[in-house]
Amino acid sequence: MVNQLERTGAAQTGVVIPELDLARIERIRQDFPILARQVGDKALVYLDNAATSQKPEAVLQAMDDYYRRYNANVHRGVHRLSEEATAAYEQARLKVARFIHAPSDKQIIFTRGTTEGINLVANTWGRANLGPGNEVLITEMEHHSNIVPWQILRDQLGFTLRYIPLTESGELDLSQLDTLITPATKLVSFVHVSNVVGTVNPVQEIVAAARAVGAKVLVDGAQSVPHMPVDVQALDVDFFVFSSHKMCGPTGLGVLYGKRDLLEAMPPWQGGGDMIREVKMSGSKWNTLPYKFEAGTPAVAEAIGLGAAVDYLSGLDMEWIHDQEQALVRYAYERLSQIEGLHIVGPEQRAGLVAFTLNDVHPHDLSAILDQDGIAVRAGHHCAQPIHDRLGIVATARASFYFYNTPDEVDLLCAGLEKAAQIFAL
Ligand SMILES: Cc1ncc(COP(=O)(O)O)c(C=O)c1O
Repeated sequence: MVNQLERTGAAQTGVVIPELDLARIERIRQDFPILARQVGDKALVYLDNAATSQKPEAVLQAMDDYYRRYNANVHRGVHRLSEEATAAYEQARLKVARFIHAPSDKQIIFTRGTTEGINLVANTWGRANLGPGNEVLITEMEHHSNIVPWQILRDQLGFTLRYIPLTESGELDLSQLDTLITPATKLVSFVHVSNVVGTVNPVQEIVAAARAVGAKVLVDGAQSVPHMPVDVQALDVDFFVFSSHKMCGPTGLGVLYGKRDLLEAMPPWQGGGDMIREVKMSGSKWNTLPYKFEAGTPAVAEAIGLGAAVDYLSGLDMEWIHDQEQALVRYAYERLSQIEGLHIVGPEQRAGLVAFTLNDVHPHDLSAILDQDGIAVRAGHHCAQPIHDRLGIVATARASFYFYNTPDEVDLLCAGLEKAAQIFAL
């Protein structure tokens, strides 16, 4: 067995990155059981965190504890287990509200993920507010989850969908914002941090332009909330969505934050249990926020798991997480740039991920070769085909980092890529 901690030790790589607290990272790695596993005879090097993050013991235990000790449905039973489950579920909502600085936990809607959050806004706010003559502005760097729901709705309601273009370096070209945001614009919906080029978008600048014409703003925080402090009030966004599974929490759960007046005015989306106050054969009355948007039995264990994840991340400190990842991605960018034939997409100043091509080797082949060394990266279009089209490439390989990754792992990635380049040069 390869000893993961030995392998990831600073002494072994000889790399010294002053900002990186390797001793703390090594301790943190022990919180994640999966990081000790082998892939074949190699230690796992997990660099696919933008797809999903790994889960610490605290999250696994919180979910296990719910199922073992107080598994019950929420908001319904008047018995001890149901009361405990309800309290834990609502406590998780409060933790999430505090984590993103929402003014109230009533404005935290649990969804199935970022994708469902955007679909919820499209199908409720969108249906009530969009039509012919209106425009929705998104960008060329969106994940499919922030493109397709608007295309479906556009085809049904007849509004116009426009895109903020990219610059050659993979940033939003905001020089055209004045002509793109007009009185016809009803919504600007864009990604906070790109899952392909790693660009961190200037939310406040875009919000200011949207406000000037009275447009609403939705921000996709799937790649920001797990990696940096986020304050939805300071950003002054109308809607903000993200996924639990990318921030140490379980799959199947996400969050929609919305401004209270907007959420109050929006009709419900799905109908069923829990989202109603009263049901008569002639019609129904809706429950208050946030329950109006949570039809049916919610993901109780998952919400409790996300609450534990939020505690865990807060315990590490989001500023610290951000600084560590920045130091690591700078190192990765520098090391990867030195590999002959490797082309990184996106700007140098970026969040903790690097997507790239290597000569004309297909990213799937690259990923398969790296996998032989236990290195997990993502290959393909990362659910963002338009940005790949715009950059003139079909696919990229992507290494994405989290606070538990080490420079040693970056070195292993580079060694694996150099090996791949040699194999395909033959
Ligand atoms: C920027 C961005 N938006 C949205 C999503 C969709 O998230 P989910 O699949 O959890 O709904 C992702 C997932 O990769 C993403 O990176």
